[in-house]
Amino acid sequence: MTMLNVALPKGRLGDKVYELFSKAGYECPSILEPGRKLIFENEETGVRYFWVKPSDVAIYVERGAADIGVAGKDILLEYEPEVFELLDLKLGKCRMCVAAKRDFRDHHTKTLRVATKFSKIAADYYRSKGRDIDIIHLNGSIELAPILGLSDVIVDIVETGTTLRENDLIVYDTILPISARLISNKASYQFKSEAIRALQKNLAALLEEET
Ligand code: PRP
Repeated sequence: MTMLNVALPKGRLGDKVYELFSKAGYECPSILEPGRKLIFENEETGVRYFWVKPSDVAIYVERGAADIGVAGKDILLEYEPEVFELLDLKLGKCRMCVAAKRDFRDHHTKTLRVATKFSKIAADYYRSKGRDIDIIHLNGSIELAPILGLSDVIVDIVETGTTLRENDLIVYDTILPISARLISNKASYQFKSEAIRALQKNLAALLEEET
Protein backbone atom coordinates (compact mmCIF):
# COMPACT_ATOMS: atom_id res chain seq x y z
CA MET A 1 0.00 0.00 0.00
CA THR A 2 1.15 3.57 -0.73
CA MET A 3 2.15 5.35 2.47
CA LEU A 4 1.12 8.98 2.67
CA ASN A 5 3.42 11.27 4.65
CA VAL A 6 1.23 13.85 6.36
CA ALA A 7 2.49 17.01 8.11
CA LEU A 8 0.03 18.01 10.83
CA PRO A 9 0.19 21.40 12.56
CA LYS A 10 1.18 20.77 16.17
CA GLY A 11 -1.29 22.16 18.71
CA ARG A 12 -5.02 22.64 19.07
CA LEU A 13 -5.68 22.88 15.32
CA GLY A 14 -3.62 19.74 14.70
CA ASP A 15 -5.68 17.78 17.21
CA LYS A 16 -8.87 18.74 15.36
CA VAL A 17 -7.27 17.93 12.02
CA TYR A 18 -6.22 14.48 13.23
CA GLU A 19 -9.76 13.87 14.48
CA LEU A 20 -11.10 14.72 11.02
CA PHE A 21 -8.54 12.49 9.23
CA SER A 22 -9.29 9.71 11.67
CA LYS A 23 -13.05 9.93 11.02
CA ALA A 24 -12.32 9.87 7.29
CA GLY A 25 -10.62 6.47 7.73
CA TYR A 26 -7.00 7.48 8.36
CA GLU A 27 -6.65 6.48 12.01
CA CYS A 28 -3.31 6.06 13.71
CA PRO A 29 -4.08 5.27 17.38
CA SER A 30 -0.46 5.60 18.55
CA ILE A 31 -0.65 9.37 17.93
CA LEU A 32 -3.02 9.68 20.90
CA GLU A 33 -0.56 8.18 23.39
CA PRO A 34 1.02 10.79 25.66
CA GLY A 35 4.68 11.59 25.00
CA ARG A 36 7.01 13.77 22.95
CA LYS A 37 7.29 11.56 19.86
CA LEU A 38 6.85 13.41 16.56
CA ILE A 39 6.30 10.61 14.02
CA PHE A 40 3.51 8.02 14.01
CA GLU A 41 2.54 5.52 11.38
CA ASN A 42 -0.18 3.03 10.66
CA GLU A 43 0.52 0.69 7.78
CA GLU A 44 -3.07 -0.53 7.73
CA THR A 45 -4.52 2.88 6.89
CA GLY A 46 -1.43 3.91 4.90
CA VAL A 47 -0.52 7.07 6.80
CA ARG A 48 2.59 8.40 8.49
CA TYR A 49 1.88 11.55 10.51
CA PHE A 50 4.45 14.14 11.67
CA TRP A 51 3.79 16.92 14.18
CA VAL A 52 5.24 20.07 12.66
CA LYS A 53 5.27 23.70 13.85
CA PRO A 54 2.18 25.14 12.10
CA SER A 55 4.10 27.81 10.18
CA ASP A 56 6.54 25.13 8.90
CA VAL A 57 3.98 22.71 7.41
CA ALA A 58 4.12 24.34 3.97
CA ILE A 59 7.93 24.02 3.91
CA TYR A 60 7.78 20.25 4.53
CA VAL A 61 5.14 19.87 1.83
CA GLU A 62 6.81 22.18 -0.71
CA ARG A 63 10.10 20.29 -0.41
CA GLY A 64 8.48 16.86 -0.45
CA ALA A 65 9.41 15.79 3.10
CA ALA A 66 5.65 15.42 3.47
CA ASP A 67 3.27 14.50 0.63
CA ILE A 68 0.41 16.41 2.12
CA GLY A 69 -0.22 18.70 5.06
CA VAL A 70 -2.58 21.15 6.65
CA ALA A 71 -1.69 24.83 6.70
CA GLY A 72 -3.57 28.04 7.43
CA LYS A 73 -4.57 30.24 4.49
CA ASP A 74 -2.56 33.01 6.22
CA ILE A 75 0.67 31.03 5.76
CA LEU A 76 -0.19 30.18 2.14
CA LEU A 77 -0.82 33.84 1.29
CA GLU A 78 2.22 35.09 3.17
CA TYR A 79 4.83 32.65 1.86
CA GLU A 80 3.21 31.51 -1.42
CA PRO A 81 4.74 28.01 -1.25
CA GLU A 82 4.77 25.98 -4.47
CA VAL A 83 2.11 23.49 -3.40
CA PHE A 84 -1.39 22.53 -4.52
CA GLU A 85 -4.23 23.73 -2.31
CA LEU A 86 -6.74 20.87 -2.39
CA LEU A 87 -9.47 21.58 0.12
CA ASP A 88 -10.80 24.08 2.66
CA LEU A 89 -11.11 22.03 5.87
CA LYS A 90 -13.24 24.76 7.51
CA LEU A 91 -11.22 24.35 10.72
CA GLY A 92 -9.13 26.94 12.56
CA LYS A 93 -11.39 29.71 11.35
CA CYS A 94 -10.24 33.24 12.13
CA ARG A 95 -9.77 36.61 10.41
CA MET A 96 -6.77 38.64 9.28
CA CYS A 97 -7.41 42.11 10.64
CA VAL A 98 -6.04 45.58 11.01
CA ALA A 99 -6.24 46.52 14.69
CA ALA A 100 -5.41 49.71 16.52
CA LYS A 101 -5.87 51.63 19.74
CA ARG A 102 -9.41 52.86 20.32
CA ASP A 103 -8.49 56.47 19.60
CA PHE A 104 -6.56 55.76 16.39
CA ARG A 105 -7.55 57.94 13.41
CA ASP A 106 -5.88 57.42 10.05
CA HIS A 107 -4.56 60.79 8.83
CA HIS A 108 -3.85 59.89 5.25
CA THR A 109 -1.07 62.46 4.96
CA LYS A 110 1.48 60.45 6.97
CA THR A 111 3.11 57.11 6.19
CA LEU A 112 1.28 54.51 8.28
CA ARG A 113 3.48 52.37 10.55
CA VAL A 114 2.23 48.76 10.45
CA ALA A 115 3.58 46.08 12.80
CA THR A 116 3.00 42.48 11.72
CA LYS A 117 4.21 38.92 11.31
CA PHE A 118 2.47 38.94 7.92
CA SER A 119 4.49 41.51 5.97
CA LYS A 120 3.40 40.37 2.53
CA ILE A 121 -0.30 40.23 3.37
CA ALA A 122 -0.07 43.70 4.93
CA ALA A 123 1.91 45.12 1.97
CA ASP A 124 -0.56 43.66 -0.57
CA TYR A 125 -3.54 44.98 1.36
CA TYR A 126 -2.26 48.55 1.66
CA ARG A 127 -0.96 48.55 -1.93
CA SER A 128 -4.49 47.70 -3.08
CA LYS A 129 -5.67 50.77 -1.15
CA GLY A 130 -2.89 52.97 -2.50
CA ARG A 131 -1.74 53.71 1.07
CA ASP A 132 1.93 54.34 1.85
CA ILE A 133 3.14 52.23 4.76
CA ASP A 134 6.23 51.43 6.72
CA ILE A 135 6.26 47.75 7.69
CA ILE A 136 7.72 46.79 11.04
CA HIS A 137 8.22 43.03 10.93
CA LEU A 138 7.82 41.35 14.34
CA ASN A 139 7.74 37.68 15.30
CA GLY A 140 5.15 37.69 18.09
CA SER A 141 3.36 39.76 20.75
CA ILE A 142 2.38 42.10 17.92
CA GLU A 143 -0.27 43.71 20.12
CA LEU A 144 2.45 45.51 22.08
CA ALA A 145 3.51 47.64 19.12
CA PRO A 146 0.67 50.21 19.06
CA ILE A 147 0.54 50.32 22.85
CA LEU A 148 4.21 51.29 23.08
CA GLY A 149 4.02 53.63 20.09
CA LEU A 150 6.18 51.39 17.91
CA SER A 151 3.44 51.35 15.25
CA ASP A 152 0.11 53.01 14.41
CA VAL A 153 -1.69 49.75 13.63
CA ILE A 154 -1.07 46.00 13.53
CA VAL A 155 -2.05 43.40 10.96
CA ASP A 156 -2.68 40.13 12.78
CA ILE A 157 -4.95 37.16 13.24
CA VAL A 158 -8.06 37.57 15.36
CA GLU A 159 -9.87 34.45 16.48
CA THR A 160 -11.94 35.09 19.61
CA GLY A 161 -10.87 38.74 19.97
CA THR A 162 -9.66 38.13 23.53
CA THR A 163 -6.07 39.20 22.90
CA LEU A 164 -7.19 42.52 21.42
CA ARG A 165 -9.75 43.13 24.15
CA GLU A 166 -7.33 42.42 26.97
CA ASN A 167 -4.85 44.84 25.45
CA ASP A 168 -7.37 47.59 24.76
CA LEU A 169 -7.17 47.35 21.00
CA ILE A 170 -10.03 47.17 18.49
CA VAL A 171 -10.51 45.75 15.02
CA TYR A 172 -10.17 48.65 12.58
CA ASP A 173 -10.70 46.66 9.40
CA THR A 174 -11.05 43.02 8.32
CA ILE A 175 -8.70 41.99 5.51
CA LEU A 176 -9.85 38.42 4.88
CA PRO A 177 -11.21 35.25 6.47
CA ILE A 178 -8.71 32.47 7.24
CA SER A 179 -9.15 28.71 7.62
CA ALA A 180 -7.05 25.55 7.43
CA ARG A 181 -6.35 24.10 3.97
CA LEU A 182 -5.30 20.64 2.81
CA ILE A 183 -2.17 21.07 0.68
CA SER A 184 -0.17 18.65 -1.44
CA ASN A 185 3.36 18.43 -2.73
CA LYS A 186 3.19 18.89 -6.51
CA ALA A 187 5.24 15.79 -7.44
CA SER A 188 3.46 13.61 -4.86
CA TYR A 189 0.16 14.64 -6.41
CA GLN A 190 1.34 12.88 -9.60
CA PHE A 191 3.18 9.90 -8.10
CA LYS A 192 0.72 9.15 -5.30
CA SER A 193 -2.27 10.53 -7.13
CA GLU A 194 -4.63 7.68 -6.30
CA ALA A 195 -3.98 7.80 -2.55
CA ILE A 196 -4.07 11.60 -2.38
CA ARG A 197 -7.25 11.91 -4.43
CA ALA A 198 -8.91 9.25 -2.27
CA LEU A 199 -7.95 11.16 0.89
CA GLN A 200 -9.20 14.43 -0.61
CA LYS A 201 -12.49 12.76 -1.60
CA ASN A 202 -12.99 11.11 1.79
CA LEU A 203 -12.33 14.36 3.66
CA ALA A 204 -14.60 16.34 1.33
CA ALA A 205 -17.41 13.79 1.79
CA LEU A 206 -17.05 13.93 5.56
CA LEU A 207 -17.13 17.75 5.59
CA GLU A 208 -20.20 17.68 3.36
CA GLU A 209 -21.92 15.30 5.80
CA GLU A 210 -21.06 17.49 8.78
CA THR A 211 -22.47 20.73 7.32
C1 PRP B 1 -2.59 34.70 17.36
C2 PRP B 1 -2.54 36.20 17.09
C3 PRP B 1 -3.14 36.80 18.33
C4 PRP B 1 -4.06 35.71 18.84
C5 PRP B 1 -5.49 36.05 18.52
O1 PRP B 1 -1.44 34.30 18.01
O2 PRP B 1 -1.22 36.64 16.85
O3 PRP B 1 -2.14 37.12 19.26
O4 PRP B 1 -3.73 34.49 18.18
O5 PRP B 1 -6.40 35.12 19.07
P1 PRP B 1 -7.67 35.61 19.89
O6 PRP B 1 -8.41 36.59 19.03
O7 PRP B 1 -8.47 34.35 20.11
O8 PRP B 1 -7.21 36.21 21.17
P2 PRP B 1 -1.06 32.75 18.13
O9 PRP B 1 -1.84 32.13 19.23
O10 PRP B 1 -1.21 32.13 16.79
O11 PRP B 1 0.45 32.78 18.59
P3 PRP B 1 1.69 33.69 18.23
O12 PRP B 1 1.26 34.87 17.41
O13 PRP B 1 2.21 34.10 19.56
O14 PRP B 1 2.62 32.79 17.47
